[in-house]
Amino acid sequence: MKTLVVYFSQTGKTKAVAERIAQLSSADLIEIKTHRSYQMSYRKTVFTSLKEILLKERPKLDMEIPDISAYDRILIGSPIWCGTLPNAVFSFLDKVDLNRKKAAVFTTSGATEPQKIAVKIKKKYPARWCRPFNANHAADEDIISWLK
Ligand SMILES: Cc1cc2nc3c(=O)[nH]c(=O)nc-3n(C[C@H](O)[C@H](O)[C@H](O)COP(=O)(O)O)c2cc1C
Repeated sequence: MKTLVVYFSQTGKTKAVAERIAQLSSADLIEIKTHRSYQMSYRKTVFTSLKEILLKERPKLDMEIPDISAYDRILIGSPIWCGTLPNAVFSFLDKVDLNRKKAAVFTTSGATEPQKIAVKIKKKYPARWCRPFNANHAADEDIISWLK
């Protein structure tokens, strides 16, 4: 199964898991990059994130949108921001057609679980959605079992 791992990461936690998931699934790996930088303080990121959520903003991306037609499975990695995914991840999801692809979300967070977020994403973006994965402290065995 040809897999693409796409991730957004501000402080590197999701990036590290995304790299491991990509290694373990022999996947291609792409980072969601934004025009605006999110290299800012935690407080400012919370403020910015809340503003983006309230105004339903779609931050401009600074990356080539991949042609996903060749992939069977798309795994989307993201931190949880303010109980949801950063709007930049939705900017990406708006630009790809996941229809008929296997897809799943994996997240890192302080504590929030991805299940409720996954339910909302499932409604908005048609795909063959699989179980979301809380990738906090994920050991290789957890990743391998999730990938099955
Ligand atoms: C703006 C902002 C909002 C956050 N909101 C939540 C949250 O609602 N629930 C939670 O458990 N963690 C929250 N966190 C913590 C991040 O999800 C966590 O640190 C994540 O692992 C960071 O991933 P990264 O290193 O890939 O950026 C938030 C962090 C930031 C910066």
